[in-house]
Amino acid sequence: MVQVNSEKHVLITGGAGFLGSLLSGHLLRLGYSVTVVDDLLYGGESLLAYFSHPRFHFVKANVCEPRTIRTAIDPQMPVPEAILHLAGIVGFPACQAVGRHVAWRYNVEAAERVFDQAIELGVKRFIFASTYSNYATSRKDDPATEESSLNPQSLYAETMVGVEKFLIAQSDSPCAPLVFRMAHLYGLSPRPRFDLIVNQFIWEAYSKRDLLIYQRGYSRSFMHVRDAVRGFILGLQSEEKNVRGQIFNLGSPTGNLSKDKIVEVILKRLPETTVRYKDLTFGGDMRDFHVSYKKIREILGFETHFTIEDGVREVLNALRTGIIDDPKDQRYRNAKFIVS
Ligand SMILES: NC(=O)c1ccc[n+]([C@@H]2O[C@H](COP(=O)([O-])OP(=O)(O)OC[C@H]3O[C@@H](n4cnc5c(N)ncnc54)[C@H](O)[C@@H]3O)[C@@H](O)[C@H]2O)c1
Repeated sequence: MVQVNSEKHVLITGGAGFLGSLLSGHLLRLGYSVTVVDDLLYGGESLLAYFSHPRFHFVKANVCEPRTIRTAIDPQMPVPEAILHLAGIVGFPACQAVGRHVAWRYNVEAAERVFDQAIELGVKRFIFASTYSNYATSRKDDPATEESSLNPQSLYAETMVGVEKFLIAQSDSPCAPLVFRMAHLYGLSPRPRFDLIVNQFIWEAYSKRDLLIYQRGYSRSFMHVRDAVRGFILGLQSEEKNVRGQIFNLGSPTGNLSKDKIVEVILKRLPETTVRYKDLTFGGDMRDFHVSYKKIREILGFETHFTIEDGVREVLNALRTGIIDDPKDQRYRNAKFIVS
């Protein structure tokens, strides 16, 4: 029988998703027991590699329900030391598609419910994946810090701010909340997503040899999904005094990139691509962002390891080798196409 170390059990909500499925594998490799609670909105194949692992426990359930977390914990396993809350309706098109009521229930009310159960169970840490899209705009010479004002422009970001407010108000709770405002992710995971800006650009350039770019000069903040995994593990393992009630931007200044820069990197590998530009808004957040990552570097020592070049090479390889044969498939995106 497998001996489970009581110090090393983590519960991940949304663990079948893009970030959660990669994070689950890393935590298992580090010796953690991992419980994943996921309602499998986009399927569950991403977890197959771990399914028979003796330290892996999966429960298909909706975290909007009142007792989901309490009942998900295997009685043979100790109380998790932390909950990493990744479940939600992710991205502005998906939130727009389900509407305000459902988006609020899945993102804000569910987080509150999961957090309340964390306290009841005696879980010591709660890490939430938020987004830098919560900020008002920020200029290159004045990047957004964790103290900058917030001005969410999409329903998705509104819900993320709603969760943050709830959690930060619980800073003195027995369960220490920690918020990561993450950069946009790219790269591959067991649940690939091709509705993320960088991955989508690579796929379009590869499959159509044609790239249509909206708001070309606009900057965003990007990070490889494997760096996001490293950030979460750091958040899990850092001393409580450094993370309790804290918000950290999670990413790196080298990831503050314009769409033009991303296109330039893709064109180095796919020079035959025609690039067309259009100025058009379609309900998302069309602002320019530069984010400061000084706090996380100074307090937690976080640095990214992967570059946009790494991401482009890796995603392109997956397409060229046929490992992903139909990136247009609905399971690789959270909402239907908003532009064709
Ligand atoms: N992907 C990014 O670029 C990015 C950037 C910033 C922040 N984030 C945040 O990171 C987290 C994970 O993002 P992702 O890209 O992995 O998303 P994802 O959509 O790939 O994964 C979300 C997972 O949550 C599950 N889920 C949704 N609602 C649920 C519910 N009520 N009960 C149980 N399971 C539920 C889904 O089935 C899915 O497996 C999210 O909180 C997101 O807001 C992501």
